[in-house]
Amino acid sequence: MAESDGLLLTVTEVCAETPLVRAFTLARPHREPLPSWQPGAHIRVQLPGGDDRSYSLINASTDSRATTRPTTYRIGVRLEDPSRGGSRFMHALEVGDQVSVLAPSNNFPLEPGPQPVVLLAGGIGITPIVSMAAVLAAEGRPYRLHYAGRARGDLAFIKEIEQLCGEHLALHTDDTAGRVFDIAGLFASLTADEPIYCCGPRAMIDAAIAAAKAYGWTEGRLRFELFTAATPQSEDQPFEVVLNSTGESFLIPPDKTILDVVIEAGKDPLHDCKRGDCGICQVRVLEGVPDHRDYILTDAEKAEGKKMQICVSRSKTPRLVIDL
Ligand SMILES: Cc1cc2nc3c(=O)[nH]c(=O)nc-3n(C[C@H](O)[C@H](O)[C@H](O)COP(=O)(O)OP(=O)(O)OC[C@H]3O[C@@H](n4cnc5c(N)ncnc54)[C@H](O)[C@@H]3O)c2cc1C
Ligand code: FES
Repeated sequence: MAESDGLLLTVTEVCAETPLVRAFTLARPHREPLPSWQPGAHIRVQLPGGDDRSYSLINASTDSRATTRPTTYRIGVRLEDPSRGGSRFMHALEVGDQVSVLAPSNNFPLEPGPQPVVLLAGGIGITPIVSMAAVLAAEGRPYRLHYAGRARGDLAFIKEIEQLCGEHLALHTDDTAGRVFDIAGLFASLTADEPIYCCGPRAMIDAAIAAAKAYGWTEGRLRFELFTAATPQSEDQPFEVVLNSTGESFLIPPDKTILDVVIEAGKDPLHDCKRGDCGICQVRVLEGVPDHRDYILTDAEKAEGKKMQICVSRSKTPRLVIDL
């Protein structure tokens, strides 16, 4: 990749944070300045096969120059299993290796404002959240960071987070509590209209969405970022999809999405996140009943069944006709 298309960065430091998480520091060859970024931003690292993976930028310092005039980027990568190879590629990187990176972009921004903020991180979801805590601490804005994991030894960046957050930090480890962090209980304890920013495993985000609904939270009070795409479920069945524009029919197997199959067939439907999170791949449903798995449509839209996100959603009927 030419520097004009993105950034060619050298790995300057690798640090094992936990048995599964490694932190990488990346810099230009002579530490030339890098594009600035704001909490919640991620970079996209190119993989050898041409694909890329997103990694949230980490800053645990209250010095604003770390984000406004950075000379290094820091990311934390969890080794995944199963994996299509992205995290394995990252974990094989050594000091001196070069990576091609797309400049920071942000789909998970921290909104300015005076009101207190609740930050909620599970596992590797701490990466965008710690950067939010650093800015809130620098601004002197009230906040509380809840950081959950299986055991203390699995909590990446824990020492610097304790130093940064002090009494604003609440740790929730399953081994000491003897149970998984009670998200509904946290939501029940909140009285003001403070926003929650949540990043963590899908189960944590689903629990937060369910709690926000149960307590009648206004739209937008809960903000979250999903790291992973929907995974196949054991009861998933193959189904037929017909494209209305051409009449072509495709069989969608349990381990592939509609989007995967039509791309493999040489089509180029609009898409971006592939996680049911951005709304770009939405199509109208002309026949059949979609099985919604996205985080975009409202409950009413899902019940109506007139549109769907083809990157994650499947079908409850043997055949779907979509406006594509
Ligand atoms: C905006 C954004 C920011 C991100 N920030 C970070 C970050 O800071 N740190 C970080 O480590 N990651 C981050 N990610 C995730 C990261 O981009 C990669 O998805 C991650 O490294 C895994 O890539 P992979 O190729 O190893 O695994 P993938 O093949 O992409 O799989 C990811 C996960 O999906 C599940 N999965 C995949 N296939 C199957 C299957 N067939 N059956 C069951 N489960 C399956 C597994 O749980 C697996 O661990 C971020 C993602 C986004 C979108
Ligand atoms: S590509 Fe983002 S919702 Fe489907």
